[in-house]
Amino acid sequence: MNSLREMTQLDLEQVLQIEEHLFGQTAWSRKMYEDELSRLGQSRWYQVLESNSQIIGYIGVAYVGENADIQTIAITTESQRKGYGEQLIITALNFLSKHGIKKVFLEVEVNNSPAISMYQKLGFQNLTIRLNYYGPGKNAQTMVLDLKDDADE
Ligand SMILES: CC(C)(COP(=O)(O)OP(=O)(O)OC[C@H]1O[C@@H](n2cnc3c(N)ncnc32)[C@H](O)[C@@H]1OP(=O)(O)O)[C@@H](O)C(=O)NCCC(=O)NCCS
Repeated sequence: MNSLREMTQLDLEQVLQIEEHLFGQTAWSRKMYEDELSRLGQSRWYQVLESNSQIIGYIGVAYVGENADIQTIAITTESQRKGYGEQLIITALNFLSKHGIKKVFLEVEVNNSPAISMYQKLGFQNLTIRLNYYGPGKNAQTMVLDLKDDADE
């Protein structure tokens, strides 16, 4: 059975393995995760998705004022294309909406078509290109989603 819960320091061993496998040279370090997790409940929201006590995905979000950023999202290779990525983003958007966030930003490597397709499906729009954001010649597409006010619905 799958379950979603807050990421803790104890998850970092598994998270870092997934991170290394999926992101290679641009993988985050333990220190980066520790810094992010030290801000949980203030300006960060990090969740892991588990299946039979194994982490199969995770998402991290930073939020301040009315803006938020999707910091990271990953689904293990074996669990991809089953709707989990979309499920994690939708859960994050619900959390952010309840916290009064109006705009959600993200960066994605311009060649990462699976992720770009997922973000487009969820309504994210292209904003700008950040040259060399992920290293020489590795550009980022920045994207944004306007979250509806409850009052608009
Ligand atoms: C991007 C990622 C999180 C998507 O997770 P996922 O669970 O496989 O995606 P889902 O099954 O929820 O798919 C949702 C939508 O994303 C798009 N999508 C996902 N994988 C795709 C692929 N390989 N090719 C094309 N579109 C794809 C589709 O629009 C899909 O909707 P559909 O099933 O109706 O066609 C996953 O591929 C991943 O972890 N990639 C490596 C890490 C990464 O790149 N993270 C993003 C950094 S910005």
